[in-house]
Amino acid sequence: MLREMNQNFARPGLSFETGNGGLTRAVISTPLANGEIYLQGAHVAAWNPVGEEPVLWLSKQSHFSPGKPIRGGVPICFPWFGPNAEDATQPAHGFARLIEWQVIATRTKADGITEIELGTTIGTFKLTYGVEFGSVLKMTLRTEVSTQSTEDQVFEDALHTYLAVSDVRSVLIKGLEAASYIDKVDQALLRPPSGSPIHFSGETDRIYLETISDCVLVDSGIQRSIRISKSGSMSTVIWNPWIEKSKRMPDFGDDEWAQMACVETTNVAGNRIKLLPGESHSTTATISVVT
Ligand code: BG6
Repeated sequence: MLREMNQNFARPGLSFETGNGGLTRAVISTPLANGEIYLQGAHVAAWNPVGEEPVLWLSKQSHFSPGKPIRGGVPICFPWFGPNAEDATQPAHGFARLIEWQVIATRTKADGITEIELGTTIGTFKLTYGVEFGSVLKMTLRTEVSTQSTEDQVFEDALHTYLAVSDVRSVLIKGLEAASYIDKVDQALLRPPSGSPIHFSGETDRIYLETISDCVLVDSGIQRSIRISKSGSMSTVIWNPWIEKSKRMPDFGDDEWAQMACVETTNVAGNRIKLLPGESHSTTATISVVT
């Protein structure tokens, strides 16, 4: 299968190989950037512009095993976010991150950016995911409802981006000062806008609503800022499990919480999306290092 994939889709700077746990991944290594994307979950597991440290965080304790989510990088959450509201036995964050996606195409653009497009179908939803690996990482999830569907379809989506940081206690996230948020570590209460950048001092799990703003994560420890821009996304989730929750997660090292922060490009909770049969929606996250 690998041979066939390389015959059909490899190009200078992009090839397919057997990655961790025997899972298939595309590896990108170009004059602009390095990266990895696993077919399971269409999961971007690594990206850095050439000359930069890794921008995405990946747990050393992650599962790499069929049907289990990878911990770190950019899981795709779809068609729901968090626990399933109607059936607690369903997998957290939906099926998209658990299943094998198909490669549709690969391209090298005139500016040297390497693009890979993957696709899958979940029920009535046809998903396509385009990822551009360049000095910027651009990820677009397109969801289309089948014309055969007999009713409107509602879904949540998230490009659940784990960012690598020097120490989460010394980073700031700017851009959400004016947004109200659901505080998932405090009874899911709706909180008013805080008016100030986010500083982490404990477990943090918040859904910021009605926000289309860019976020900038300022990491003074390594003199680096990361910008997260988006389109087609009305909510942003900020997450760090801190100490106790990290210990409860088998695929997350006990001390790894200090080196990551999630800034997730989402449409969740009150910002979930409703489409008519035949309609589509695209959610895009663009990650760049600001110097
Ligand atoms: C975050 C959620 O996006 O993902 C958290 O807001 C959740 O509540 C976290 O704990 C990790 O989820 P999972 O299913 O990958 O362990």
